[in-house]
Amino acid sequence: MKENKPRTINMNLDGRPSQYLLGPLAGLELSRFVPQPPPVYIVDETVSRRHPSWLEQIQEGCDHFSHCTLVLPGGENIKSLARLAEIYAWLADCGVNRDGTIVAVGGGTILDLAGLAASTWKRGVNFVALPTTLLAMVDAALGGKTAVNAAGLKNPVGTFHPASGILADCGFLSSLPLRAWRDGMAEMIKTALIGDPRLFAHLHHSRNQLARVLREGDPDLPVPGILGALPWTEWIGQAAYVKADVVNRDFREIGPRRALNLGHTLGHVVEAWSQETESPLSHGEAVAIGMAAVFKVAAERGTCPLPTAVQVTELLMDCGLPVSCPAPPPATLTALLAGDKKATSTDGVRWVLPRKVGLMDLDGRVTAAEIIKWLD
Ligand code: GLY
Repeated sequence: MKENKPRTINMNLDGRPSQYLLGPLAGLELSRFVPQPPPVYIVDETVSRRHPSWLEQIQEGCDHFSHCTLVLPGGENIKSLARLAEIYAWLADCGVNRDGTIVAVGGGTILDLAGLAASTWKRGVNFVALPTTLLAMVDAALGGKTAVNAAGLKNPVGTFHPASGILADCGFLSSLPLRAWRDGMAEMIKTALIGDPRLFAHLHHSRNQLARVLREGDPDLPVPGILGALPWTEWIGQAAYVKADVVNRDFREIGPRRALNLGHTLGHVVEAWSQETESPLSHGEAVAIGMAAVFKVAAERGTCPLPTAVQVTELLMDCGLPVSCPAPPPATLTALLAGDKKATSTDGVRWVLPRKVGLMDLDGRVTAAEIIKWLD
């Protein structure tokens, strides 16, 4: 019975408690985070189709069964101002007041969108996240970043609005398609690289088993037997602990939180650019390319050990992730980098450059020529 108790990580973000629960019954704790039931639910369409009875149990566990449920497709396209406006209309229909709660069940895109709705509706209502993808469990659900895409840019409109509860149940991962597992691995590897050398060593050590389940297969289908093949709960807990520690120290991303952007500066550029090509990259794939590139740049400059760069590249590849892609034309690269929301008007783009596993330079400079060299 004891091992069924969710593992707990406590955060205090801008003076607000935010609790992460990880375990097979985490969803049943929902009522603890809903002071004024019933809540309203924004649920990913695939999750609602694949896990109907578990969702019903979670809702019933919250005492008051709410019929106010909005089912949305996942994917980057839903992160739009138009969708946000639709959600506001739905919240009005549901009669959600300032003491209401929005519960989001899904991956990073659903959580980003629902979190933004929660942070702006009636100047901010309570938000609870049930992450259902690996990426959301180790990254997107923690730390209160919300966003939609606008003006042709990724995530320029957003807020910091932490979920009061983050209930992570690995059972949801059983229906996760291969591509989403790979995306989650990119963020888990990133988290290990910035803050947990032991986790990185463990992942690297497990790369043959990882390759067996992640390297080959139809990216759109779930991976049979994957949940029992590797210690996912342990790894997710370790990665979540690192992320929680970072956001606890620097919720508003003034300093140490910037490390979480490892691989993201170039990642956002190639992700945006690739959407216009025949092989659009997912977020995790783009971040993998971005991480491999900055490790190569740092190793070439002699500021990071070459064997570390090799290990990072090996691990990403064994997880079925790309480590390079065709370089965008230099003018496009420069223009997209200028649109990076982490760029400041005085300093331009500050890259996260590795020195070693667990130590990042947060103020790195990288030229477009270096990037093009390593991409090509
Ligand atoms: N996903 C990066 C962050 O939360 O800061």
